[in-house]
Amino acid sequence: MNKKTAETKSVAERLKGHLPALAVLAVVGGGAWVMINESMNQSGSAAMVDVKVPALSTFGQKGEKAFGDNCAACHGENAAGGSGGPPLVHKIYTPGHHADGAFNLALKRGVRQHHWRFGNMPPQPQVSAGDTRAIIGYVRELQRANGIGSR
Ligand code: HEC
Repeated sequence: MNKKTAETKSVAERLKGHLPALAVLAVVGGGAWVMINESMNQSGSAAMVDVKVPALSTFGQKGEKAFGDNCAACHGENAAGGSGGPPLVHKIYTPGHHADGAFNLALKRGVRQHHWRFGNMPPQPQVSAGDTRAIIGYVRELQRANGIGSR
């Protein structure tokens, strides 16, 4: 009985001795976790928003291809945002805020940085008018599937 009490005590004592070390570990571990998270964000390959991809129309599929060729490098796969540009499946870009004309203008003239911190978007004169329309259709289909911009 006496022995048992002594043992219990010694376990408690030992734990107590380790508490400061455990606390330091928790702080260091937490810091490392934050740093890993930050660096993942900065690498930017991770999408910025979750985009649900619907069954696309034929027109939407044409737009998806043109988007992949011309825009995804910056705006990310599925227009979910990337290292060089914002997500277009985002409430900022609903038809009400950025009508189709804003897309045409963006490709013709480029975009000055104003909503985000990615820098300017250069003009995209290589994209044909037909592909531009298809890209807009594609983005609108994605937006609708994600609850954005039902007019
Ligand atoms: C080199 C990177 C880059 C490429 C390539 C690119 N964009 Fe952008 N785009 C940006 C950035 C950065 C912004 C955000 C500017 C801001 O608001 O700060 C932007 C903004 C936009 C906007 C919003 C315009 C507005 O009026 O605010 C649209 C629409 C757009 N891009 C469409 C496209 C489409 C479609 C393509 C492909 C044909 C494309 N972008 C290719 C970087 C890019």
